[in-house]
Amino acid sequence: MTAKQRTRGSVTKAVVPAAGLGTRFLPATKAMPKEMLPIVDKPAIQYVVEEAAAAGLDDVLIITGRNKTNISNHFDSVPELELALERKGDEGKLGKVHEASEIAEVHLLRQGQPLGLGHAVGCARRHVGDESFAVLLGDDLIDARDPLLERMVAEHDARDATVIALMEVPPESIHLYGCAAVEPTDDPDVVKITGLVEKPEASEAPSNLAVIGRYVLRPEIFDIIDELEPGRGGEIQLTDALNHLAEGKGDGPVYGVVFRGRRYDTGDRADWIKANVLLGVDHPELGAEITDWLLGFADRLRAGRADD
Ligand code: G1P
Repeated sequence: MTAKQRTRGSVTKAVVPAAGLGTRFLPATKAMPKEMLPIVDKPAIQYVVEEAAAAGLDDVLIITGRNKTNISNHFDSVPELELALERKGDEGKLGKVHEASEIAEVHLLRQGQPLGLGHAVGCARRHVGDESFAVLLGDDLIDARDPLLERMVAEHDARDATVIALMEVPPESIHLYGCAAVEPTDDPDVVKITGLVEKPEASEAPSNLAVIGRYVLRPEIFDIIDELEPGRGGEIQLTDALNHLAEGKGDGPVYGVVFRGRRYDTGDRADWIKANVLLGVDHPELGAEITDWLLGFADRLRAGRADD
């Protein structure tokens, strides 16, 4: 089914901002974008593109910045590698090379200047046009076993509203996220958002609900972004544009879907290691070996013999 054949109101385009500097992961990210760090055997951003495609969003625009050329290379074909594998008759590896270029129709756009997440989303205006679209942050990985985006698109369609993903976090972590003031709805997994603040101190946070990197936005967001003054950190913040809507100053309400599944912040070193372990244990080829090793290692750790 092409985008034009889909029913009105459904979402077919995804925007993946991937222009951040990745400073939390230096020196690994000095010459390589954080979105290209592998999780088991695929770069983090491939999982994000797969997630979009699985939710029916097969037009994916990645917003890149400097140092990001290998993101575009990853979603292209590599004729010389493909030829070498074909000559060897290695269908398995050939499939893996093809995989990334066949998931979705991937487009790339450079942000030019790193002026913030809101600005990055604003860069997508011409590509998105007058349609609702999803934003998936390139270093937020949602476990494919816990689908979230489909649910958000369904809420967007049913309520004709902007929908963002929220997750409960401990008070000591809220300063790392956008934070939502909310009112309940008759659905325990959905809240109405009455305000949003970017990275508040714990003492000033309106709740323990953090904005995680999944948004289903209506095209009106572009006009709001265009009018925004720089916010926290001197950057054009997507959270500020959403707050404008949540406070009733724009066209339509904002709802939050409360996610209770597995999410990994792959731009954070500890979370990246955990994601590798959790997805490694589940991997069809590697799972048994990693599980055995992990169980043995845990025993040795407990016995104080980790070096054995
Ligand atoms: C961005 C958003 C923030 C959100 C977070 C989720 O921040 O600005 O509102 O909570 O992503 O990962 P960043 O982590 O890019 O600083």
